[in-house]
Amino acid sequence: MKTTSVWIIDFGSQYTQLITRRFRELGVTSEIITLEEGLARFKTAKPRALVLSGGPQSVFEDKTDYSPFLTADIPILGICYGMQIMGQFFGGKVEKGVIGEYGLAKIHLCNGFKINGVVGDTDVWMSHSDHVSVLPKDFTLIFESSNKLVAGIKHTSKPIMGLQFHPEVAHSVKGKEILEYFIKDVAKLESDWTSQSVLEDCLEQVRQVKGSKVLCAFSGGVDSLVAAVLAQKILGDDLYCFFVDHGLLRPQDLHHIEVLKEKTNLHIEILDVKNEFLSRLEGVKDPEQKRKIIGTTFIEVFEKKLNEYQDQKGIHFEYLLQGTLYPDVIESLSPHKVGGKSVTIKSHHNVGGLPERMKLKLLEPLRFLFKDDVRMMGTEMGLDHDWVYRHPFPGPGIGVRVLGELSADSIRKVQESDQILFEELKAHNLYDSTWQAFTVLLPVKTVGVKGDGRVYEEVIALRMVNSQDGMTASVTELPWSFLNRVSSRICNEIKGVTRVVYDITSKPPGTIEWE
Ligand code: XMP
Repeated sequence: MKTTSVWIIDFGSQYTQLITRRFRELGVTSEIITLEEGLARFKTAKPRALVLSGGPQSVFEDKTDYSPFLTADIPILGICYGMQIMGQFFGGKVEKGVIGEYGLAKIHLCNGFKINGVVGDTDVWMSHSDHVSVLPKDFTLIFESSNKLVAGIKHTSKPIMGLQFHPEVAHSVKGKEILEYFIKDVAKLESDWTSQSVLEDCLEQVRQVKGSKVLCAFSGGVDSLVAAVLAQKILGDDLYCFFVDHGLLRPQDLHHIEVLKEKTNLHIEILDVKNEFLSRLEGVKDPEQKRKIIGTTFIEVFEKKLNEYQDQKGIHFEYLLQGTLYPDVIESLSPHKVGGKSVTIKSHHNVGGLPERMKLKLLEPLRFLFKDDVRMMGTEMGLDHDWVYRHPFPGPGIGVRVLGELSADSIRKVQESDQILFEELKAHNLYDSTWQAFTVLLPVKTVGVKGDGRVYEEVIALRMVNSQDGMTASVTELPWSFLNRVSSRICNEIKGVTRVVYDITSKPPGTIEWE
C-alpha cells in the first residue's frame, strides 16, 4: 500500500472496515492499521491524514500516549472513541454518560458551518455513553445532538475534527457528505484512489516476483480470475493456473472454465481428479468430515502435481498466487477481537496448508482490496461483466450442498436443479439482484402426487441471499412468479424430486451454505 495513504487506526470498532470503504469511495487511498503498528510506523513515515476509529474502550482506562499522533502536523479525524481521545488530549473534558446514545439519533449543524447537503436536523448512527462534556481550547462545536450533547468538534485553525457519531454507516443519512467535508474542506486531500492507480499498485506487487515460477489454484471466481489476469500481464508464461475438477461442480462451472481458457491468455490446466475425491467421500455423512476430506485431498492433488512438474519438466514453483482480500487480512490483524480466537463454525477450505508443505511463498496482489475494488479492477482490465459479477461458489462445491452422504444420483439432482435456477435467474434478468443463489438436496423424502399416482421423493431447497462479504446475509426477496417457475421446472424435470422449499433464514443464525 502506498506510503501516502490515510491511516485508519483501528480501536476495534465494528465499523472500521466501512471507514476505509467510504474513504476509497470518496477517491482517497486508506488502510487500516493497528494502534501499535501505527505508533511504530509513525517514527519513520507520515500518512496523509489519520483517522482514529471508534472502539469499545473508555478513555478513563486508556493510558496510551497519543501525543505522536495528535501533535503531528497532519489532518486528523476522530470518530466516536477517537473523538473522545482528542477531546481529552487537547484539554477538554470527557464524562461518563448518565444515559447513552445508541442507534439512530438526530444532530444539527451549529455555529454557521456549511456542509454540502446537510441542512437542519439530520439522522446519524450513534453508539456511545462516554461523551465530551467540555470542549477543548481552540475547538468549536460543529454538531450538537438532540439531547444537547456534543456530537462534533472542529479545531479553529488546524485540520482536526471529531465526530461522536458514525458517519461511515449507511444509517447516517448524510454521513458520506460529512466525510467528504473532512476530506475536501478540512484536510484538503486530493483524490488518489482510482481504478487505474489501484491496478498499478497491484501490478507493482507482481513485478517484485518477476522471473519466478508462480502457481495459481484457480477456481474461476472473480478473486482468482482478477489475480491471475493481472499477474499474467507481468509473469507471462511463468504463471500456471490449475483448476481442480473434483466431481462436485455444476455444469456452469466447467463451462465457465472452458470459456476462460478460450477467451483469456491464461494457461489453465484442468486436473480431472473426480475419482480421487468421490472415492474418499464414499459413505461419509458428517459435514465437517466431508469438508476436511475435500480440503486434504485438494492439497494432496496439488502436491502431486507440483512434484510431477518438478521431476518431469524441471519446473520449480516458488510462489503461490492467491486472491486473498482485505477483509481476511484485517480479520487476522484485529487486536480487539472480543473473546480472542473465534470459534470454528466450519472448516472453510482453501489451499491454506500448501505453502508450508511445499515451501511456497505467497503472492497476494489483492490483499488491500475489498470485493468491490476487485470488481472495479476486473472491469478496468476489460473482463466480461458476467465473469466479474459471478456469484461465489464454495471450494467444496456440491459436496456441502448434498446434505449427508454423497452419491452420483444426489450430485446429479443438485447439478440439474442448480442449472434450472441459474437459467431462470438469467431469463428473468435477476442474476445480478442476488449475491448468491444455489440449490441444496435435503436428505428427506416426502409424499407427493405426480400423474395421479403417489410418489415418495426428495426435496430441493432454494437458497438466495444478499451480502457484502459473506459474513452476514439477508434473504433475497424475489418475485413469486419466478419462484413458482423454478419450483415447477425442478419438480417436472428432475427425476426423484417432488418438493421445493425456499430457505428464508438470514445469517446469523443460519450460515449461507447448509453444511
Ligand atoms: P457460510 O456457509 O460460512 O458461507 O455462511 C459464507 C460464504 O463462503 C462460501 N463458502 C466457502 N468458500 N471455501 C470457499 O472458498 C469454503 O470451504 C466455503 N464454505 C462456504 C459460501 O458459499 C458463502 O459465499
